[in-house]
Amino acid sequence: MNDLFLRACRGEKTSPVPVWLMRQAGRYLPAYQEVRGRTDFLTLCRTPELAAKVTLQPVDILGVDAAILFSDILIPLVPMGANLSFHEGRGPVLDPPVRSEADLDKLHPIDPVSDVSFVLETIRILREELKDRVPLIGFSGAPFTLATYLIEGGTSKSFVNIKRMLFESPALYHRLMDLITDVTLSYLKAQIEAGAQAVQVFDTWAGILSVKDYEKCALPYAARILEALEGLGVPRIYFVFDGGHVLESIKKSGADVIGLDWRTGIDQALLKLGSTVVQGNLDPCTLFLPEDQLRLRVQDILEQGRNARAHIFNLGHGILPEIPADKAKLLVKLVHELSA
Ligand code: CP3
Repeated sequence: MNDLFLRACRGEKTSPVPVWLMRQAGRYLPAYQEVRGRTDFLTLCRTPELAAKVTLQPVDILGVDAAILFSDILIPLVPMGANLSFHEGRGPVLDPPVRSEADLDKLHPIDPVSDVSFVLETIRILREELKDRVPLIGFSGAPFTLATYLIEGGTSKSFVNIKRMLFESPALYHRLMDLITDVTLSYLKAQIEAGAQAVQVFDTWAGILSVKDYEKCALPYAARILEALEGLGVPRIYFVFDGGHVLESIKKSGADVIGLDWRTGIDQALLKLGSTVVQGNLDPCTLFLPEDQLRLRVQDILEQGRNARAHIFNLGHGILPEIPADKAKLLVKLVHELSA
């Protein structure tokens, strides 16, 4: 098996440097569009054969060094009692949102084996199909990021509802976070038992908090999950989007690998993180650059990555539907060539 990714997760400097792309299965790939044209997004997530099929597309088409389970961070919120739907052009909607004790009382823990069996079945199919190829990454949202969706009722710009709860009703906020943390931990443990060989915890919105609030209201819950998964033999990646200001706190998360968005250079991040394995961090929009300029960007990130304990190449956030699939393919080739 191509184990570059797992070796780098464990702190080994590899040649070439492994590369995968956040959201690597998605609308920028015509092969994904073809499957999606016949199936809505949630049905796709809930149909193991189809979810496995689109998971494998970027492995076959781009030649990435890891597969990531095709699903969504919001999936485990449904068996908790949330009402999730996806609307074209508007993203996810959770209706009604959680704003009061009474709303929270309607949510409950989950049993992953019965409640999200389709995710576990997708993982089992993928391990079978990937056998001698690349490792499989499982994932979840971090509790703070999942809470933003539950409390805001979807995507937000100001995040006024979650911040209001955090300051106005801290007991309610922390009770909700305890519940989400328990659910997420059992969900990730089930993914690992089913065969996930690494896990990534996405804290997409934690960067909206000040350092102090992040340390009090977001980090402890993510850390509780990451620490509880230690010793299961599976590397743990923690990614905070727009988290340059909280890197010193992130260092305390207990993760094996720290994911970086593109705003902070790897060299700068390492000053705050110390010796660690980093993953990242090309701005997805630089994939619109012509090849010669893209090559220079890749080279620059690879050079900075050499100063880390080990480096896994990735984008600084998910790939966008507007990006030509050929450019993603070129990126993977450049990373492999320039780090060989
Ligand atoms: O990386 C992968 O290829 C694995 C699959 C994956 C998806 N979502 C598929 C998806 C992963 C790891 C996610 C994580 C996710 N989902 C995050 C954290 C990562 C991040 O981007 O910061 C978040 C915040 C979500 C919530 C979510 N799901 C949003 C905001 C949206 C709408 C985005 C949009 O562009 O419409 C989704 C839908 C979604 N999740 C799609 C995919 C491929 C697009 C669905 C479609 O086909 O229409």
